[in-house]
Amino acid sequence: MSTPFVFGKLALKSNFTDRENDLLRLVNNFESGVNTTLISPRRWGKSSLVEKAAQVVQAQNSKIKVCFIDAFDVRSEHHFYQVLAEEVLKSTSGKFEEIADYIQKFMKKLLPKVSFSPDSIQEVSLGFDWGSFDKNNSEILDLAENIAAEKGIKIVVCVDEFQNIAGFTDALAFQKALRSRWQKHQNVSYCLYGSKRHMMMDIFTSASMPFYKFGDIMFLEKIAEGKWIPFIQTKFEETGKKINEKEAAYIAQLVENHPYYVQQLSQLSWLRTIGTCKRASIDESFDSLMLQFSLLFQNITDSLSYTQINFMHALISGKEKLSSKEVLDKYNLGSSANIAQLKKALANREIIDIVGPQIEFTDPVYKAWLQKYYFRRP
Ligand SMILES: Nc1ncnc2c1ncn2[C@@H]1O[C@H](COP(=O)(O)OP(=O)(O)O)[C@@H](O)[C@H]1O
Ligand SMILES: [Mg+2]
Repeated sequence: MSTPFVFGKLALKSNFTDRENDLLRLVNNFESGVNTTLISPRRWGKSSLVEKAAQVVQAQNSKIKVCFIDAFDVRSEHHFYQVLAEEVLKSTSGKFEEIADYIQKFMKKLLPKVSFSPDSIQEVSLGFDWGSFDKNNSEILDLAENIAAEKGIKIVVCVDEFQNIAGFTDALAFQKALRSRWQKHQNVSYCLYGSKRHMMMDIFTSASMPFYKFGDIMFLEKIAEGKWIPFIQTKFEETGKKINEKEAAYIAQLVENHPYYVQQLSQLSWLRTIGTCKRASIDESFDSLMLQFSLLFQNITDSLSYTQINFMHALISGKEKLSSKEVLDKYNLGSSANIAQLKKALANREIIDIVGPQIEFTDPVYKAWLQKYYFRRP
C-alpha cells in the first residue's frame, strides 16, 4: 500500500488542503491578467498553490496557457533569457513546426539554433549567439506577448524563486529591462514568487526598485491547525488506521503547522501506527525526525558565528527584549547596534523569518533540535 502523506513533492488533488481564499485570488488574477507576487518561506506551499491555480484555470479556460520557470538554478541573465524563451515556446506549442514558425516570426534577429528530441517537444533547447545577444534581447521579453496575440490566447508566466535574479551582476538594470517590457503586455501576466522574504520585499515594495507596484502582493500563511486535524484524520481513515483529534492536533503543534513537516511527521507517525495512533508514536517520530537531520543541523550551526548562535539561544529562551541590557549581557551579544545585523544575517540564511515585530525560526525542527540537543549539552 502506498503511504498517504506527501512531502517534498507538489501537494495536489487530495493532498492539497485549505488555501481556498488564496486559490480563488490567484485564479482570479490569472483569469483577469493581473500580475501577482507571492511570498512565503520555503516549503509552505507556494509551488503547490501556483500549480493548483494553473490546473484550475486551464481546466476552465482553454484560451489560457500557464508557463513555468524555476529560477532556482538560474545563475545569470543570459541563462534566464534562454530558459524563458524555451519554456514559453514549449508551453504554447504542440508541435515542433510551430516552434520553428514562432522563432522565424518573433526572434528574427536572435535566430537561435534549435535542437530537439524527436520524441518530445519538452526537450527543445535553444542555442544563442551571445556575442550579439544583448541588443536584441527584447525579442525574448516580448516573445510570450507576441505568441499570445497571434494565437488569440492569454499566457501566465510563472517564475519560481524569483529573488534569485537579485543576485545577478547588474541586477538592477536587468530588473528594469524586464519591467519596462512586461508592463506593456496586454495578453501576458506574470506570477513571480519566492521564499526569501526580505529580498522579495526589497524587489517589490521599495519605491526605488523597478518592480515597485508591479501587481498584487500575496503573503502565504502556514496552514492552520484546525485545517490539519481533519486532513490528517481523513488520510489515516482512508488507509484503515485511526487517529484521534487530540493526536492529530499534537502533530500539527509539534511542527508549528509547517506544511512540509506536518505531512512528514504525519507520515512517520502513520508508519508507527497499528490501529489507532498513540501519542508516544508521535513523540518517537518527532525524535527520529530531529535525528534524521541532526548532521545537517550540526553543519548549519557550525557555520554560524558565536554571536549568531548566542542570538538564537536568546530567541529560543523566549527573550523578547533582545536589545535590553540584561539580554545583551546574559547572551554575550555585544552592543544593541549588533542586533539588527544579527537579524539580517540570520534572515539572509533563511534561519529566521522576520514579520514586523515577530521573529520566528523558519525550520521548527531545527528549533526543536537546538532546544533539545544543542543548547542542553554540558
Ligand atoms: N495546500 C497544501 N496542503 C497540504 N500540504 C501542503 C500544501 N502546500 C504544501 N504542502 C506541503 O508542503 C510541501 C512543500 O510545498 P511546496 O509547494 O513545494 O512549497 P514551497 O514552494 O513554498 O517551497 C509539500 O510537499 C507538502 O508536503
Ligand atoms: Mg517551491
